Amino acid sequence: MNHFLDINTTDAAALRSMIDNARSMKEARAGLPKGTPDADQPLANHMVALIFEKPSTRTRVSFDVGVRQMGGQTMVLSGSEMQLGHGETIADTARVLSRYVDLIMIRTFEEATLHEMAEYASVPVINGLTNRTHPCQIMADILTFEEHRGPIKGKKVVWSGDGNNVFASFAQAAGQFGFDLTFTGPPPLDPEMVFVEEARAKGVKVEIERDPRKAVEGADLVVTDTWVSMHDPQSAKERRHNQLRGYQVNAALMSHARPDALFMHCLPAHRDDEATSEVMDGPHSVIFDEAENRLHAQKAVMRWCLEK
Ligand code: CP
Ligand code: NVA
Repeated sequence: MNHFLDINTTDAAALRSMIDNARSMKEARAGLPKGTPDADQPLANHMVALIFEKPSTRTRVSFDVGVRQMGGQTMVLSGSEMQLGHGETIADTARVLSRYVDLIMIRTFEEATLHEMAEYASVPVINGLTNRTHPCQIMADILTFEEHRGPIKGKKVVWSGDGNNVFASFAQAAGQFGFDLTFTGPPPLDPEMVFVEEARAKGVKVEIERDPRKAVEGADLVVTDTWVSMHDPQSAKERRHNQLRGYQVNAALMSHARPDALFMHCLPAHRDDEATSEVMDGPHSVIFDEAENRLHAQKAVMRWCLEK
């Protein structure tokens, strides 16, 4: 079963072919109205369930549009409105949904929920974000980097801010795609070291540098994300702002990166907190290409999931 649960649980050659496939599918659609069906219809007669236990704009819309372009149909389900939110087990939900649909995408809190869904489903399951990882985002980010700058292998990516779920998927991607990664942030918000160690074990350089200016030296890509993720207690907000203020991505920080460095943010952003509008709307920024590429990357992921 081709579940897409994480970057590190998916074969590196399969990841590479998904990125290449996403790029060709995107190129084949260039200039067409968004609702134009793809020439081939790999999801014809396929039904896809999109389950959200947390809010979403990009994941929700890009999966829905992607399925439709490939000829399939979707149903968007909110966790709280399903019996899942009222005590039915994940295992039973997985077995029931597998009788109706051909593919399940789930955005949830605990990683264990995703894994239980995959264990009991008899159709492929895709991780649409958990508290711990966000692999679909990183597929879009790799596609975006390579469109602008060519192969990401051997490049230097710098993450400034909270060592969160999106960082974790970047660390897994560093190992799988062969790029170096530097984390810069305050010690209380360090990533889980297991992600760092796993990437290092694959032979890439993963560094932790407390000084953001030193960290971004030589960076080909600078990335940040919200200071308070959806699963974090809102009460953490003020403390996080104090801890992270020095790690804001602003023009002064970008001036220490390579002159042609790209800037990414998975969005949604809190403008002028983790990154200034000057950077987000400036010449280094590719944030809206990144958002668009969720669509193309996930179409390639879904095709791979449904390959026999
Ligand atoms: N980047 C991302 O996953 O956005 P949404 O939360 O809007 O889906
Ligand atoms: N780290 C963020 C990503 C949102 C797409 C969160 O989990 O809320």
